[in-house]
Amino acid sequence: MSGNTGGQARVTVNTLLEKKTRGERLVMVTAYDFPTATLAERAKVDIILVGDSLGMVALGYDSTVPVTMADMIHHTKACARACRQALLVSDMPFMSYQVTPAQAVVNAGRLIKEGGAQAVKVEGGRETLPAIQAIVKAGIPVMGHLGLTPQTASLHSGYKVQGKTPESARLILDDALALQQAGVFAIVVECVPDKVASLIRDRLTMPLIGIGSGAGCDGQVLVISDLLGLYDKLTPRFVKRYAELGEAAVGAIAAFAEETRNGSFPSPEHSFHLKEEEFVKVKNLMLAPDE
Ligand code: KIV
Repeated sequence: MSGNTGGQARVTVNTLLEKKTRGERLVMVTAYDFPTATLAERAKVDIILVGDSLGMVALGYDSTVPVTMADMIHHTKACARACRQALLVSDMPFMSYQVTPAQAVVNAGRLIKEGGAQAVKVEGGRETLPAIQAIVKAGIPVMGHLGLTPQTASLHSGYKVQGKTPESARLILDDALALQQAGVFAIVVECVPDKVASLIRDRLTMPLIGIGSGAGCDGQVLVISDLLGLYDKLTPRFVKRYAELGEAAVGAIAAFAEETRNGSFPSPEHSFHLKEEEFVKVKNLMLAPDE
């Protein structure tokens, strides 16, 4: 349960575990502001992630690296205002948890206390264990993120499928087991071959949520702007566009522009009207000589 009042109880870390145990697949989408979080809530997803993909799809950067704690707190707050039932997870941005475990705890705490998230997500494997352990010890639920980790993509092989060789697949499994041991409540695995992801999933007691990692995971996550067809700069093969809202939006704005230019908008039903006798009085005063 949570501080959520009225309606259905909020999804918790335990709910996710119970769903995995029952074989129910988990649904997670990103959101960045009040409207996108409202849409995700209305669609009854289990988890809303304020992803640092925010940097690319909402702030226009070329990568997630420039995203700051201030950005994450600002956007998490907006999502929290809409998020009543889904578990709200906020991404820890690049360099907000790498310096010291104490820095990681302070910043995770800010996303919870100031942002209103219920959990944080941290990218990386065993190299991030000191930070993850410290955050968990402080009582903050942590979600891991393995495979393709966008914050450090340039350090590795770029935006490429990970875990294709026996050694690299084993490394991801060992990272996942170490993260589980450290107390993370779920792990996102990005861009890993489907059978590798399934093998990892079989070794974990907590949920493995895939993105570009096949159908064998315990759940799936997509970036909301991708699934709604609102972001065109980068479309990885694993993205399924369930709608083309970008095209629909351009069409709507172009129609508004056309009707404004040809004078057909606003029509009488989109305008406010005075009764004739009131208008006569208004007109007389308005046309009276200036004082
Ligand atoms: O930032 C993000 O959107 C993410 C998802 C791809 C899982 O981390």
